[in-house]
Amino acid sequence: MSDCLATGFAGCDKTEDPDVFVRCLRYLAAAPGMRAIKDESLAWLGLAPGDAALDLGCGLGGEAAAMAGGVGPSGLAVGLDASRVMLARAAHEAGQAAVRPVFAAGDGARLPFADGVFAGCRVERTLQHVPVPGAALAEMARVTRPGGWVVAVEPDWGTFVVDSSRTVEARRLAEFWCDSFRCGWIGRGLGRLLAEAGLDGIEVVGRSLVLRELAAAEAVYSLSDTADRAVAAGALSQGAAASFLTELRRRDAAGTFFSSLTFFLARGRKPRP
Ligand SMILES: C[S@@+](CC[C@H](N)C(=O)[O-])C[C@H]1O[C@@H](n2cnc3c(N)ncnc32)[C@H](O)[C@@H]1O
Repeated sequence: MSDCLATGFAGCDKTEDPDVFVRCLRYLAAAPGMRAIKDESLAWLGLAPGDAALDLGCGLGGEAAAMAGGVGPSGLAVGLDASRVMLARAAHEAGQAAVRPVFAAGDGARLPFADGVFAGCRVERTLQHVPVPGAALAEMARVTRPGGWVVAVEPDWGTFVVDSSRTVEARRLAEFWCDSFRCGWIGRGLGRLLAEAGLDGIEVVGRSLVLRELAAAEAVYSLSDTADRAVAAGALSQGAAASFLTELRRRDAAGTFFSSLTFFLARGRKPRP
């Protein structure tokens, strides 16, 4: 399977170098703008000590660990992921913390839990990679107890912008990257999908992640690799891609590189009978 960041998260274990994906997750987990988005989504769960909670597509497990801390020793936080590589890293990173999450392998489309067992369920940057995001949200709604929140955080790659004088190349590259995802427009659909999963009290907010260094954009959007793939697919000429990247490198050296992506946070509550 390809090691491209837009497609490889759908099956990290089958990629040539899973560390590419681990590095991307580590980078974003430490990015200040992303930290604020993660923390806001955790607060939206409204968890209390003693609760049980689920983080679907937990990756390296940082948010499952935060949820474990929130529900305390009398509660339970579960981090579920389809990738054994991610789960092994997550278990390692959770280390010997006094209150640790439980990590489980599984597919978001068929959660291995009974109805209504969780006080809250969360998913971040995973629905963009699954074939049917609505099926995963319906499963999250099923395993949430009445009155509990389902919280989703996803980007919308149609909102990705990069400052460039080469508008044609910038547009083509952004479109090519967006269309590489299974669900590149997932962000704008979150509120509707939560409603379709039978949830009420829907709230949606947008938060921009601004990256002002090319190295950051490479780690998160793999700009150079995307340009190479766009050339190979015939979406850009070699010369146009090279000129586009040269300008970005020049701007980066001058401290004026700018890119931004909007993440949408959405939540919906499981209705009480
Ligand atoms: C971009 S990462 C996000 C990880 C984590 N939520 C974070 O914010 O750092 C997407 C994660 O979803 C997992 N994943 C992809 N498809 C999945 C599926 N169908 N069911 C469960 N997990 C899945 C991947 O293995 C990966 O760990």
